[in-house]
Parts: sequence; structure tokens; C-alpha cells
Amino acid sequence: MFTTTFSYQNSARSDSLPRDLVTEIQRLKRELNAVILAHYYQDPDIQDVADYLGDSLGLARQAATTNAEVIVFAGVHFMAETAKILNPEKQVLLPDLNAGCSLADSCPPDAFAAFKAQHPDHLVVSYINCTAAIKAMSDIICTSSNAVKIVSQIDRDQPILFAPDRNLGRYVMEQTGRELLLWQGTCMVHETFSEKKLVQLQTQHPAAEVIAHPECEPAVLRHARYIGSTTALLNYAQQSPSSAFIVATEPGIIHQMQKAAPHKQFIPAPPLNQCACNECPHMRLNTLEKLYWAMRQRSPEITLPEEVRLAALRPIQRMLAMS
Ligand code: 13P
Ligand code: SF4
Repeated sequence: MFTTTFSYQNSARSDSLPRDLVTEIQRLKRELNAVILAHYYQDPDIQDVADYLGDSLGLARQAATTNAEVIVFAGVHFMAETAKILNPEKQVLLPDLNAGCSLADSCPPDAFAAFKAQHPDHLVVSYINCTAAIKAMSDIICTSSNAVKIVSQIDRDQPILFAPDRNLGRYVMEQTGRELLLWQGTCMVHETFSEKKLVQLQTQHPAAEVIAHPECEPAVLRHARYIGSTTALLNYAQQSPSSAFIVATEPGIIHQMQKAAPHKQFIPAPPLNQCACNECPHMRLNTLEKLYWAMRQRSPEITLPEEVRLAALRPIQRMLAMS
């Protein structure tokens, strides 16, 4: 069984933060020959210092092609881990090593290995939101932006096991018209949206288009005019003639939507309770301060056993070739 290991030097932060954090981050970037890659669900101040912002596919592509010696990954663990899988010789830093993912956690390697063993004739297609151990047991990786495209390229007679997100899996089944054996994982953020409150919000904003991420539950997706990855949602919001949108994904993306289309209105889809639980608690563990410290101390760093890395690399390379 493969397991991942983390190395975290919890060095003492004896000195205080510089007054101009952003200038100091830019200086460290030059000093380290570093690139900052950030996901749209990061805090706006992190998005604003990033060299590249993107969805999981875009970030993986950037990680695969960067010339930088150090990759500072402002995202969650599985994303930084993917960057390390693609770049064993580079240092990959994650501002907070506890920035995990409920979806990745919903697919423990031992249970998944047993499930896979029960279906030896199935090809394993795994969503990139999983650990390196799960990637190492997969045949092809996909992201929310290429899942339909990748499954469509697989021979129709080939049975497919799709993990770990059952909502993305159901969406791919609908789009491709084929049966997939689904691992029953979910994202704690995307399953929190309330259909009832969404419908109420639509009555208050009848001209607003609902746009949603495919990790949402089917009850929410059926109200969406457009479904796509974070980058796809951002592009759609820019290009659509509509001037108002109800956005059913983590609201961090609204920072870029608002920048790209300042005259349009973006309304976050409401969660079930009176909470901020549509914000990803894992993504939001990263802060600008932690990003600075990670660059300053060159820690926490992502490390992986080489046999896991190599096994996980193959299905990622297949994805990059197929998308
Ligand atoms: P994408 O950015 O690929 O759409 O993924 C969303 C997500 O949940 C990342 O954790
Ligand atoms: Fe994981 Fe969901 Fe957070 Fe994305 S939004 S990192 S899938 S918990």
C-alpha cells in the first residue's frame, strides 16, 4: 500500500512580518527563482500576488511547464502534490500543510484498493482531487474541465470506475450517456448549497443566470444554465450577455469575476445554514502571511516517496496527453 509522507519544519518565527508583505513576497520570488501558482478559491490578496491563477487543469499544466526552481502553491495539498509529482527536482512549497480536501479525504487508499480489487475489469478514472496514493492506483486522471472529454475517448465497451466525486461522476454519466461505477465521495463545500434557498434567490433576481460547478449536488445542478470548472465559469460569466449571475461554487472565484466584468453582479449561491460554509475551510487556511513565511523559510515542503510519485505520474501524463 502506498502512503504519502510530509516533511514540515516548524521553524520558530523569531522576527516580525515586514511592513510591505507584497513587496517582500515579490523580492523573495526573485531571490528564490520562484513562481506562485494560485487557485481561484484562495483569498483575494493571495490571488493578487500570484503569477498564475487557474483551475486544477490549468495549474497542473503550469506546474508541468514552469522553469522556476521553486513552486509556491497557493491551493490545497493534492494540487501541490500534483506539482511535485510532475517536478521531482523542484522544491514545492504549500503555505499551510494542513490545507487538505474533504473530497480527497473521502477516498482512503485501503478502502479504495479493496473496491478496485472487486472490479478488476474496470479502468480507473480518478478526479485530480485525490491523494497521490489514489492517483498511483488509477489509470487516467481527469479534472472538472476535461472529465467528459476524457471519458468520451475511452472505448464504450470498457467498464469504468470513477472516483472519488460522485457528483462529477453523475454529471459525466449524463453528458456521455454511459454508465460509470462511482466511488461515493463528495466535496463538503459543493454539497452545502441549498436548492430551496437557491430557488428563493432566483425569484428575487429573476434575470440572474445560475452557473454551477459539477461538484454540486444534482438538485442544484438542475437549476444551472451553465455548468463548468472554475475557469469555465469565469469565461462564461465574461462572455454571457447576462448582467447578473448566481454562482454555485466557492465564492473565492467571484474576486476574478468581478475584476473581469466590473459592471456585472455576482451573487454567491446560499449554503444550507447561516454559515460561511460555502467557503472552503481547507483552501482558506492559506493566508498571505503564511505564503510569505513559506517563501522565507522554504517550508512547509511537499515530499513524496519516489515509487508513489512514479506510479502517480503515469495517469497524470495520460490526462495531459488526452486533454
Ligand atoms: P476546478 O478549479 O478544477 O474547477 O476545481 C474546483 C475544486 O474544487 C478545486 O478544489
Ligand atoms: Fe476539496 Fe471541495 Fe475544498 Fe475543492 S472546494 S479543495 S474539492 S473541499
